[in-house]
Amino acid sequence: MLDLWYKNAIIYCLDVETYMDGNGDGIGDFEGLTQRLNYLAGLGITCIWLMPFYPTPNRDNGYDVMDFYNVDPRLGTLGDFVEFTRLANERGIRVIVDLVVNHTSTEHPWFQSACQNKQSKYRDFYIWSQEKPKDAAEGVIFPGVQESTWTYNQQAGAYYFHRFYEHQADLNITNPAVREEINKVMGFWLQLGVSGFRIDAAPFLIELKGVEDEAEGADPYAYLKEMRDFLSWRCGDAILLAEANVPMEHVPPYFGDGDKMQMLFHFMVNQHVILALAQEQAEPIMRGLKAPPEIPSIAQWAHFIRNHDELSLDKLSDSEQDEILTRFNQDKEHVWIYDRGIRRRFPPLVANDPQRLRLAYSLMFTLPGTPVLFYGEEIGLGDDLSQAERNSIRPPMQWTGEANAGFSTAPSDKLFRPVISDDTYGYQQLNVVDQRRDSNSLLNWMERAIRVRKECPEFGWGTWSLVETHHPSVFAHRCDWRGGTVLAVHNLSKETCKITLDLKAEDGKLIDLLGDQQYEAIDGASHDMQLESYGHYWFRLGEHHL
Ligand code: NOJ
Repeated sequence: MLDLWYKNAIIYCLDVETYMDGNGDGIGDFEGLTQRLNYLAGLGITCIWLMPFYPTPNRDNGYDVMDFYNVDPRLGTLGDFVEFTRLANERGIRVIVDLVVNHTSTEHPWFQSACQNKQSKYRDFYIWSQEKPKDAAEGVIFPGVQESTWTYNQQAGAYYFHRFYEHQADLNITNPAVREEINKVMGFWLQLGVSGFRIDAAPFLIELKGVEDEAEGADPYAYLKEMRDFLSWRCGDAILLAEANVPMEHVPPYFGDGDKMQMLFHFMVNQHVILALAQEQAEPIMRGLKAPPEIPSIAQWAHFIRNHDELSLDKLSDSEQDEILTRFNQDKEHVWIYDRGIRRRFPPLVANDPQRLRLAYSLMFTLPGTPVLFYGEEIGLGDDLSQAERNSIRPPMQWTGEANAGFSTAPSDKLFRPVISDDTYGYQQLNVVDQRRDSNSLLNWMERAIRVRKECPEFGWGTWSLVETHHPSVFAHRCDWRGGTVLAVHNLSKETCKITLDLKAEDGKLIDLLGDQQYEAIDGASHDMQLESYGHYWFRLGEHHL
């Protein structure tokens, strides 16, 4: 049964607003994105994850939604959305969308009505308290920019609960009418052709904070099954991909017996891969991979190097966090945010070293799970620390060396966010068109890596195990599935090295998959190899079958 498409998918996350401007107003839109579908098809990705594109006051990059049933007018219309999704599907690309239902914007008509009128049916959509709860200063997600989780609303005459910014009021999911409405939202977008949802802030969505009394004895995770049941009834192959950066012992109830979330982002592996890349040691990767309990066979981990938020390092010790900053040569004062992470993209952490970039993404593509790229990673897009908070990570995509990076024809002072134009990451020298022409570019490497990754379902479906290399800087693992075996070897260090893979003679010869040839063994010893500085290999054992 190969129906589980997400097991061997290549997911690409993008923000419509910063991707491509089709109508020349300085803001990316669905028209522009649709023009770029052939580019994405050429890159080889199989699923687009759209960050929020709903009507919004845009005080949290769209994660503050004002209407769950529409497209922000700056980005297009529902008609443009449907056209985009249809044309994506036609190219074999699925679309999943962000489902941001832990909270709404305080400008959402539901919240407005709830504040204006205690009798409003929307009053109980939110979480209220007459007094400011004693623990109001605890559990703020954005320390430094957010002081409390409860804010007084004059009109409502009460405090409302908000896990995130005060302009994002939490919905009360113990209210059946809220759950009913969330189902309606999911049903709406499924009907318009999406293949699933990224569940924003999943742990906070299900928490019963502020409504503990009403929910006494309730299992908060039961709601995840309710969502999944609804989703699967409406659309059998749609998926839920949850953002849940939780302790590893809390992972099982998110997957259930395979009857809740199909996918979870692997924050533990992400942070340990970053540590391994910083320390140039393999050990942290093994630690990250071994940390969670085993997951149901239909469940899947999503692997990423960077996403649209800060690079959270909350699962590492203080000294490991400091070591990452030091080894990556980062000034804490400028890059550290919310007391837990780095507001940078990946290339500036490794001084744009091409070998280290390939090493990181090679790991992402081969770790057991499904890789998720963040737009621009395929060209090594940089960041802009002059932008506030996490907006540093979200510059416009760089298509060409022409004005505004080819992102928009608007005057540059009308751009929604400025394009990067510094000496290293500026669009003049770092853009899609130039990299397409250069056979040694990161973009061409990515295309090849994606193509080969799709030919290796073992990485997505298989059972993984470590392969001993007796070298502290070399990480090697194999994935076995249905008689096929693939193997990836990564040298995390700047130093070249020679290793022997601990394989059995009957494992046979190695096919070098990225080089498309049989591996030439050193001195006839078929499992010995020389690894270049930050070098990597992907192998298939035995026969090459495309
Ligand atoms: C998680 C999103 O990734 C982040 O960007 C956002 O600020 C919060 N959820 C609140 O919605």
